[in-house]
Amino acid sequence: MTPIALTVNGRKVAALVEPRTHLADFLREHCRLTGTHLGCEHGVCGACTVLIDGEPARSCIAYAVACDGLAIETIEGFDGDPIMLDLREAFSREHGLQCGFCTPGMLIAARDIVRRLPGVDEHRIRIELSGNLCRCTGYLGIVNAVASVIQARDSRPAATGVGAEPARPARLATFVPSGTGAGEAAPPSAAAPVLDQPRQGWTRFEESFVIIAPPATVWQVFADVPTVAACLPGAELTEHDAQTAKGKMAVKLGPIRAAFGGSAVIERDDRTLRGVIRGAGSDRGTGSRTKGEVVYRLAPEGAGDRTRVSLVVEYSLQGALAQFSRSSLAQDLGRRLVADFAANLNARLGGGGATNTPGAPLNVGRLAWSWLRDRLRRLLRR
Ligand code: FES
Ligand code: FES
Repeated sequence: MTPIALTVNGRKVAALVEPRTHLADFLREHCRLTGTHLGCEHGVCGACTVLIDGEPARSCIAYAVACDGLAIETIEGFDGDPIMLDLREAFSREHGLQCGFCTPGMLIAARDIVRRLPGVDEHRIRIELSGNLCRCTGYLGIVNAVASVIQARDSRPAATGVGAEPARPARLATFVPSGTGAGEAAPPSAAAPVLDQPRQGWTRFEESFVIIAPPATVWQVFADVPTVAACLPGAELTEHDAQTAKGKMAVKLGPIRAAFGGSAVIERDDRTLRGVIRGAGSDRGTGSRTKGEVVYRLAPEGAGDRTRVSLVVEYSLQGALAQFSRSSLAQDLGRRLVADFAANLNARLGGGGATNTPGAPLNVGRLAWSWLRDRLRRLLRR
């Protein structure tokens, strides 16, 4: 058993939990907060949605030990919340629920939309809600309810003081429209600007690692698209030239398997040793779509015989795998993926052989497990 201390609906909770206990079971069985419902228990239906540190997340795929020190809000914690009051009334008025099983998760997702996206249209509401499934309503009432609350709030004079909702920084992603509706992800554009600020609704994280080779060598290796692809877990290159690449990325998460097909454009600035890779892809099987951008910079480290590679990674994810955009776990998993990439690249530069098995999927479950193992080790060292 592992000790954890977290805040649930503003109340401090300390407990001993099995490392395998997921947050939803912890909330329901330890905290007796049964408003968090469990449907699929593998991150697809959204019934278990809660807020973790203010961000919607699926409590069935978050370990309770991973939430140590974090703030959790369940549906029971929104009494008196002005947006939730409006949404509850609207869901009743617009027939946005029947059996009510999906409703707690749906309300928390809806509240997140109202807070983040004033003026949003019905199409975007549907995309934003695409991670929450309802077997009863056909969604029309739910979408109308959310739209009516947004319209009512938009038509009010600008909120100041009491009741004003502070704008939440777009720290973590939710769903963003691809601009192509429910179809294929939009192709990447080489002309798209590189933003210093995170794009609204995209997940962003920054990371750096050291490669044991001088910058000129690493810069050359980064120009070698097959080598870069071979070091990226789950990636398989199908076509490429110096500025473009096409390929596949296989992802495995428990019972979910996705095979993203996509393309990327590559820009490199030899003078500043800075590169940008923009990509987009989709998986027909799960209906998941993704867009992303990686900006990297190389700088000498130590005596110049090593290179620090600094990355800014931004991506958006829609569809069945979108839950991985919605929690800080996504950023930790992204960092672990980068660490695997760096280890593979160092192994190659050190004369190691093939680092990836072509076609082997990126095993998100394995990454999550190793992330959890490291976290437990840190806990035990305290
Ligand atoms: S029960 Fe968690 S997403 Fe379905
Ligand atoms: S109201 Fe029954 S599942 Fe949504």
